[in-house]
Amino acid sequence: MADKDNENKTENSKISEVKKPKKASPQAIRDQRLMSINPDHPEPILLQRAAEVIKKGGTVVFPTETVYGLGANGLDEKACLKIYQAKGRPADNPLILHIAKPEHIVRLGEDISDNVRRMAKKFWPGPLTMVVKRQDKVPDVVTAGLDTVAIRCPKDPIAHALISYAGVPIAAPSANLSGSPSPTKAAHVMEDMAGRVDLIITSRDADIGVESTVVDMTGDVPVILRPGRITREEIAEVCGDCRISPAILEHHEPEHPASPGMKYTHYSPEAQVILTEQDGSKDRIKAEMRSHPDLNYALIAPGERPADLPENVDFLSLGEKPEDYEHRLFAALRKTDEDHIDRALVILPEASEKTLAVRDRLMHAAGYQYL
Ligand code: TXA
Ligand code: MG
Repeated sequence: MADKDNENKTENSKISEVKKPKKASPQAIRDQRLMSINPDHPEPILLQRAAEVIKKGGTVVFPTETVYGLGANGLDEKACLKIYQAKGRPADNPLILHIAKPEHIVRLGEDISDNVRRMAKKFWPGPLTMVVKRQDKVPDVVTAGLDTVAIRCPKDPIAHALISYAGVPIAAPSANLSGSPSPTKAAHVMEDMAGRVDLIITSRDADIGVESTVVDMTGDVPVILRPGRITREEIAEVCGDCRISPAILEHHEPEHPASPGMKYTHYSPEAQVILTEQDGSKDRIKAEMRSHPDLNYALIAPGERPADLPENVDFLSLGEKPEDYEHRLFAALRKTDEDHIDRALVILPEASEKTLAVRDRLMHAAGYQYL
């Protein structure tokens, strides 16, 4: 890689001081305790066993409809610390508490407003996380010292049963090593988490593929801190209004990002990720590839493989519509690692409410670097 580009990469990555932890070794993968659960008919006996691990203060990776999560008892400080250790996660990035039933929010949050109740009724169980004032019983380690707590009621039947059987809220970030793309397949979880957790539940691929929409509900108007499947428009329909955090819209990292997790480089594979918008991208991509014939390139883009893309370039399609983009995004980023890609060029899906989440994740993965 040319020196200039290395400098660029360093410049764009300096927001993340944290070094990426190492992927699992073959030995760790062999030794990891696994539990395969049938997503159509989850076996209660297995889920009860998994819940025992949570109750005893252990860590369990489990599927949700958004991405796989790395769970522990959300009221047990020591157990939650294990999550940070397993992921190599910075201590100032708070965790989401997952609850089995929407009404359980009153056990963890204070000042539950009518808007929060309406949102819970409309979107839970589902891919929505609400940030509300915390109760004192929520440990500092979960909220990273903030006076708010993020709460989600997931829809996935395995996630739901695990939380119910555990009888406690489950704190769970995405089950990837800090900085890596979120895991949407059991294989992704094994790569990142084998040897680092007490139990991994394997099941089918995550249905949605991007993490939940995180919304700050503490003010009069809801503010989206992390875009996801549930859009601003849909929230505005329920609450009358909804804003998107400037940290997302300005496409840069401010000094004090609204959501602590947004300030770190995120979702990045080993390859350098570089963005283009759809307009005029073709010529720039061609020129870039021509000027570095020694590098392995991948192209990640919506739609079909461009007819004139050189044969030796990997093409990873994001599919045809916003739901496909979400579903394929993280698997495409991880595939570039598998294929030993040096540079992954991305044609961003056209901007719209429905593509905000995917564009946001890709911008983070690229450290906002454009061709
Ligand atoms: O879909 C999801 O949300 C997945 C699944 C497993 O549920 N979980 C997930 O967690 O994506 P994580 O830890 O990877 O992302 C949580 C995000 C981070 O950006 C974090 O900073 C933000 O939520 N967050 C958590 N608590 C917060 C709080 N009190 N105030 C503001 N942001 C908060
Ligand atoms: Mg995450």
